[in-house]
Amino acid sequence: MDAYTRMVIDPEIPTLTVNNVVFYLQTLKAPIQRNVGNAEVETGRKLFEKINCSGCHKPTLKTGFSPVAALSNKEFHPYTDLLLHDMGPGLDDGYTEGSAKTFEWRTPPLWGLGLSMNSQGGSYHLLHDGRAKSIEEAVTLHGGEASASRNSFNQLSGEEKNALLRFLESL
Ligand code: HEC
Repeated sequence: MDAYTRMVIDPEIPTLTVNNVVFYLQTLKAPIQRNVGNAEVETGRKLFEKINCSGCHKPTLKTGFSPVAALSNKEFHPYTDLLLHDMGPGLDDGYTEGSAKTFEWRTPPLWGLGLSMNSQGGSYHLLHDGRAKSIEEAVTLHGGEASASRNSFNQLSGEEKNALLRFLESL
Protein backbone atom coordinates (compact mmCIF):
# COMPACT_ATOMS: atom_id res chain seq x y z
CA MET A 1 0.00 0.00 0.00
CA ASP A 2 1.50 3.36 -0.99
CA ALA A 3 1.09 6.55 1.02
CA TYR A 4 -1.72 7.83 -1.21
CA THR A 5 -3.82 4.68 -0.76
CA ARG A 6 -3.34 4.79 3.00
CA MET A 7 -4.53 8.42 3.03
CA VAL A 8 -7.70 7.64 1.08
CA ILE A 9 -8.70 4.55 3.05
CA ASP A 10 -8.98 6.33 6.37
CA PRO A 11 -8.25 10.05 6.36
CA GLU A 12 -10.27 10.76 9.55
CA ILE A 13 -9.13 10.47 13.14
CA PRO A 14 -11.51 8.34 15.21
CA THR A 15 -14.50 10.04 16.87
CA LEU A 16 -13.27 8.78 20.23
CA THR A 17 -10.03 10.74 19.77
CA VAL A 18 -11.93 13.92 18.88
CA ASN A 19 -14.18 13.48 21.93
CA ASN A 20 -11.18 12.94 24.17
CA VAL A 21 -9.49 16.11 22.91
CA VAL A 22 -12.73 18.10 23.41
CA PHE A 23 -13.04 16.74 26.96
CA TYR A 24 -9.40 17.63 27.67
CA LEU A 25 -9.90 21.22 26.43
CA GLN A 26 -13.19 21.62 28.34
CA THR A 27 -11.63 20.60 31.61
CA LEU A 28 -8.35 22.55 31.40
CA LYS A 29 -7.88 24.51 34.61
CA ALA A 30 -8.34 28.28 34.51
CA PRO A 31 -5.31 30.40 35.51
CA ILE A 32 -5.20 30.88 39.27
CA GLN A 33 -5.09 34.49 40.50
CA ARG A 34 -1.82 35.48 42.19
CA ASN A 35 -1.10 37.94 45.06
CA VAL A 36 -4.72 37.85 46.22
CA GLY A 37 -4.02 39.05 49.79
CA ASN A 38 -1.81 41.96 48.67
CA ALA A 39 -3.15 45.37 49.80
CA GLU A 40 -2.32 47.17 46.54
CA VAL A 41 -3.99 44.41 44.51
CA GLU A 42 -7.09 44.70 46.71
CA THR A 43 -7.16 48.50 46.21
CA GLY A 44 -6.91 47.87 42.46
CA ARG A 45 -9.78 45.39 42.57
CA LYS A 46 -12.01 48.01 44.20
CA LEU A 47 -11.04 50.62 41.60
CA PHE A 48 -11.84 48.10 38.83
CA GLU A 49 -15.40 47.97 40.22
CA LYS A 50 -15.61 51.69 40.98
CA ILE A 51 -14.74 52.92 37.47
CA ASN A 52 -16.94 50.19 35.98
CA CYS A 53 -14.38 48.07 34.18
CA SER A 54 -16.44 45.29 35.74
CA GLY A 55 -19.50 46.46 33.75
CA CYS A 56 -18.12 44.52 30.77
CA HIS A 57 -15.25 42.51 32.28
CA LYS A 58 -17.63 40.66 34.65
CA PRO A 59 -15.62 39.05 37.46
CA THR A 60 -18.03 36.15 38.06
CA LEU A 61 -20.18 34.01 35.76
CA LYS A 62 -21.91 30.71 36.44
CA THR A 63 -22.05 27.71 34.13
CA GLY A 64 -25.33 25.98 33.33
CA PHE A 65 -25.93 22.26 33.64
CA SER A 66 -23.22 20.02 32.24
CA PRO A 67 -23.04 16.23 32.25
CA VAL A 68 -19.44 16.75 33.39
CA ALA A 69 -19.88 17.26 37.16
CA ALA A 70 -16.78 19.46 37.46
CA LEU A 71 -18.32 21.93 34.98
CA SER A 72 -21.96 21.86 36.11
CA ASN A 73 -23.48 24.95 37.78
CA LYS A 74 -20.06 26.27 38.78
CA GLU A 75 -19.05 29.86 39.47
CA PHE A 76 -15.94 30.95 37.60
CA HIS A 77 -14.02 34.21 37.23
CA PRO A 78 -13.35 35.03 33.57
CA TYR A 79 -13.67 38.87 33.68
CA THR A 80 -15.87 39.02 30.59
CA ASP A 81 -19.58 39.29 29.80
CA LEU A 82 -18.96 37.41 26.52
CA LEU A 83 -20.85 40.19 24.70
CA LEU A 84 -20.11 42.47 21.75
CA HIS A 85 -19.63 46.19 22.44
CA ASP A 86 -19.23 49.30 20.33
CA MET A 87 -15.60 50.21 21.08
CA GLY A 88 -15.51 53.40 19.00
CA PRO A 89 -13.84 54.51 15.74
CA GLY A 90 -10.26 54.03 17.04
CA LEU A 91 -10.82 50.25 17.21
CA ASP A 92 -12.84 50.03 13.97
CA ASP A 93 -10.95 47.76 11.54
CA GLY A 94 -13.41 48.27 8.68
CA TYR A 95 -13.83 44.52 8.34
CA THR A 96 -17.18 42.83 8.95
CA GLU A 97 -17.15 39.43 10.63
CA GLY A 98 -20.49 37.61 10.86
CA SER A 99 -23.17 39.88 12.28
CA ALA A 100 -20.70 42.04 14.28
CA LYS A 101 -20.25 45.64 13.10
CA THR A 102 -16.72 46.71 12.18
CA PHE A 103 -16.34 48.60 15.48
CA GLU A 104 -17.83 45.90 17.70
CA TRP A 105 -15.63 43.56 19.73
CA ARG A 106 -16.35 40.81 22.20
CA THR A 107 -15.11 41.58 25.72
CA PRO A 108 -12.00 39.41 26.07
CA PRO A 109 -11.60 37.47 29.33
CA LEU A 110 -8.93 39.05 31.53
CA TRP A 111 -8.08 35.84 33.42
CA GLY A 112 -4.48 34.97 32.69
CA LEU A 113 -3.74 38.57 31.59
CA GLY A 114 -0.73 38.86 33.89
CA LEU A 115 0.68 35.59 32.55
CA SER A 116 0.22 36.49 28.90
CA MET A 117 3.44 38.50 28.60
CA ASN A 118 5.54 35.44 29.39
CA SER A 119 3.44 33.16 27.24
CA GLN A 120 3.73 35.54 24.25
CA GLY A 121 7.49 35.83 24.03
CA GLY A 122 8.13 38.48 26.69
CA SER A 123 5.89 41.35 25.58
CA TYR A 124 2.20 42.13 25.58
CA HIS A 125 0.19 42.03 22.33
CA LEU A 126 -3.23 43.17 23.50
CA LEU A 127 -6.54 44.12 21.81
CA HIS A 128 -7.90 42.34 18.71
CA ASP A 129 -4.87 43.13 16.53
CA GLY A 130 -2.18 43.04 19.22
CA ARG A 131 -1.46 46.77 18.87
CA ALA A 132 -1.35 47.51 22.62
CA LYS A 133 2.11 46.78 24.03
CA SER A 134 1.08 47.29 27.67
CA ILE A 135 -2.03 46.86 29.78
CA GLU A 136 -2.24 50.62 30.30
CA GLU A 137 -2.11 51.24 26.53
CA ALA A 138 -4.93 48.70 25.99
CA VAL A 139 -7.10 50.56 28.50
CA THR A 140 -6.41 54.03 27.09
CA LEU A 141 -7.39 52.79 23.59
CA HIS A 142 -10.92 51.90 24.82
CA GLY A 143 -13.61 54.10 23.19
CA GLY A 144 -17.32 53.92 22.35
CA GLU A 145 -19.34 52.32 25.16
CA ALA A 146 -16.18 52.12 27.27
CA SER A 147 -15.38 55.86 27.01
CA ALA A 148 -16.66 56.81 30.47
CA SER A 149 -14.69 54.02 32.08
CA ARG A 150 -11.55 54.99 30.13
CA ASN A 151 -11.95 58.65 31.13
CA SER A 152 -12.23 57.61 34.78
CA PHE A 153 -9.04 55.57 34.35
CA ASN A 154 -7.22 58.58 32.87
CA GLN A 155 -8.28 60.67 35.88
CA LEU A 156 -6.90 58.25 38.47
CA SER A 157 -3.81 59.36 40.42
CA GLY A 158 -0.51 57.64 39.59
CA GLU A 159 -0.81 55.59 42.75
CA GLU A 160 -4.36 54.46 41.91
CA LYS A 161 -3.34 53.55 38.33
CA ASN A 162 -0.49 51.43 39.69
CA ALA A 163 -2.86 49.63 42.07
CA LEU A 164 -5.31 48.90 39.25
CA LEU A 165 -2.46 47.62 37.05
CA ARG A 166 -1.15 45.40 39.90
CA PHE A 167 -4.67 43.94 40.19
CA LEU A 168 -4.88 43.30 36.43
CA GLU A 169 -1.44 41.66 36.50
CA SER A 170 -2.62 39.38 39.31
CA LEU A 171 -5.33 37.88 37.08
C1 HEC B 1 -18.03 48.70 27.26
C2 HEC B 1 -17.33 47.49 27.69
C3 HEC B 1 -15.96 47.61 28.32
C4 HEC B 1 -15.56 48.36 29.41
C5 HEC B 1 -16.41 49.28 30.27
C6 HEC B 1 -14.15 48.09 29.59
N1 HEC B 1 -13.71 47.19 28.65
FE1 HEC B 1 -11.83 46.44 28.49
N2 HEC B 1 -12.32 45.61 26.70
C7 HEC B 1 -13.59 45.59 26.15
C8 HEC B 1 -13.50 45.05 24.81
C9 HEC B 1 -14.68 44.82 23.87
C10 HEC B 1 -12.14 44.78 24.57
C11 HEC B 1 -11.53 44.23 23.27
C12 HEC B 1 -11.26 45.38 22.29
C13 HEC B 1 -10.42 44.97 21.11
O1 HEC B 1 -10.03 43.81 21.01
O2 HEC B 1 -10.13 45.82 20.25
C14 HEC B 1 -11.44 45.10 25.81
C15 HEC B 1 -10.08 44.86 26.02
C16 HEC B 1 -9.43 45.06 27.23
C17 HEC B 1 -8.07 44.68 27.52
C18 HEC B 1 -7.15 43.93 26.56
C19 HEC B 1 -7.30 42.44 26.81
C20 HEC B 1 -6.66 41.57 25.75
O3 HEC B 1 -6.51 40.37 26.04
O4 HEC B 1 -6.33 42.03 24.65
C21 HEC B 1 -7.80 45.09 28.80
C22 HEC B 1 -6.49 44.91 29.57
C23 HEC B 1 -9.00 45.72 29.31
N3 HEC B 1 -9.96 45.69 28.33
C24 HEC B 1 -9.11 46.28 30.57
C25 HEC B 1 -10.16 47.13 30.92
C26 HEC B 1 -10.14 48.00 32.08
C27 HEC B 1 -9.02 48.09 33.10
C28 HEC B 1 -11.32 48.70 32.07
C29 HEC B 1 -11.75 49.80 33.00
C30 HEC B 1 -10.98 51.03 32.93
C31 HEC B 1 -12.08 48.23 30.91
N4 HEC B 1 -11.34 47.31 30.23
C32 HEC B 1 -13.37 48.66 30.58
C33 HEC B 1 -14.74 46.05 26.74
C34 HEC B 1 -14.78 46.90 27.85
